[in-house]
Amino acid sequence: MAPMLMIRRLPLLRVSTLLLFLLLRFDAFPAAYASGHDYFDALRKSILFFEGQRSGRLPPDQRLHWRRDSALHDGASAGVDLTGGYYDAGDNVKFGFPMAFTMTLLSWSIIDFGRTMGSELPNVVKAVRWGTDYLLKATSIPGLVFVQVGDPYSDHNCWERPEDMDTLRTAYSIDRAHPGSDVAGETAAALAAASIVFRSRDPVYSRLLLNRAVRVFAFANRYRGAYSDSLSRAVCPFYCDVNGYQDELLWGAVWLHKASRRREYREYIMRNEVVLHAGDTINEFGWDNKHAGINVLISKEVLMGRADYFQSFKNNADGFICSVLPGISHPQVQYSPGGLIFKAGGSNMQHVTSLSFLLLAYSNYLNHARKTVPCGEFSASPALLRQLAKRQVDYILGDNPIRMSYMVGYGDRYPRRIHHRASSLPSVQAHPEHIACKEGSRYYLSPDPNPNVLVGAVVGGPNVSDAFPDSRPFFQESEPTTYINAPLVGLLGYFSAHP
Ligand SMILES: *[C@@H]1O[C@H](CO)[C@@H](O)[C@H](O)[C@H]1NC(C)=O
Repeated sequence: MAPMLMIRRLPLLRVSTLLLFLLLRFDAFPAAYASGHDYFDALRKSILFFEGQRSGRLPPDQRLHWRRDSALHDGASAGVDLTGGYYDAGDNVKFGFPMAFTMTLLSWSIIDFGRTMGSELPNVVKAVRWGTDYLLKATSIPGLVFVQVGDPYSDHNCWERPEDMDTLRTAYSIDRAHPGSDVAGETAAALAAASIVFRSRDPVYSRLLLNRAVRVFAFANRYRGAYSDSLSRAVCPFYCDVNGYQDELLWGAVWLHKASRRREYREYIMRNEVVLHAGDTINEFGWDNKHAGINVLISKEVLMGRADYFQSFKNNADGFICSVLPGISHPQVQYSPGGLIFKAGGSNMQHVTSLSFLLLAYSNYLNHARKTVPCGEFSASPALLRQLAKRQVDYILGDNPIRMSYMVGYGDRYPRRIHHRASSLPSVQAHPEHIACKEGSRYYLSPDPNPNVLVGAVVGGPNVSDAFPDSRPFFQESEPTTYINAPLVGLLGYFSAHP
């Protein structure tokens, strides 16, 4: 591990020599922990996790049996049906912004890597549909988008099972007078991406998704503003759009372009590239910031020789790839001594999985075009990007200094005290009596392992020193989220066929 540390401290100069040196180190690196992983098993588990996050009436084929129906009156206070969808993490709020991003990434996982998911593919498709069925409900009224169900203060004040919930289930919405181009743009992206997933599987549903995406995007674009301004008390600091809504407008347009091939979206992208700051913060990708994703997704067309007019996006994507490579000590991307991508701000695994996803997707686009990424004097090959992504996945699955699998239920050592209400409280079957808001505290504070194993959940992960507390109160390390898993599903789909 020491060499990695040393490399990070070297100055930015002489990048090419440094990278060559690193390549050697990098080849040698996995051997230190290598154990050989069952990526298909991890894929199966990573998608099972989404069943544990389901809200609403559970279907007969629900495989995670300790969960029950919950939140069956969501939307009633607003006179609409908003049951269904996903709880975002270890709480019981349905936050629309990260939920939509999760659906976009789960769809992208299928579009790029579904071919190698084998018998798990139908389960991944079901997980998308569970989310898009909800997003269709949330966007059923023109000029209105429901963006959240559940008062986060009321919810976070309790440690309660979703099945017992008696907290405020306020339904929050945006409209023309209270815009939210960020959440609406992301919702349009999710609907458009999912329309590609269902294009041949269910053409009628696919058209419904695409038509809705078109309408929601037009609303997002016409009534501009950040939902953090319109709904500040409900969404900040939880899923506050710090980065602005411009990236989601471009992101929505890019997915609509891909899904519809309509000229208007290509023209929108070209016309708005500069206005909407496509070149800003090119090395970020997550529920708040879509820039690297936009650039990588559009670059596929440039690399296929179909869209020279998008060349500047490819330049940005190349810049992003170079900034993530170890050895270039970029201020916003660092590596832990054990080799994990690390970004400040908590729940680090979301960055690990989303950046690794982009590395792997880009590696495939480059490979088909027989191209490499120019990083100064050095060029990064598709094989290098793939190797870096694989190294991150292997770290998650247990190839790390403390030999901890960060996926619950995978391997022998995994997090036992995850910050997750349903997992940590006894199940309804084991304890049918209601457990009230504050009665849950003793389970939260207990040193015992969680009674319900939330198989496939990937938690926030270790700190920058590769240490992990496995303790509920350390939520930045011990809480799983849907947007950590969504890109991981794609990665595992690929590596289960290309170990
Ligand atoms: C990481 O966690 C370990 C164990 O809890 C702690 O000793 C160490 O100081 C932490 N490192 C950082 C950089 O926070």
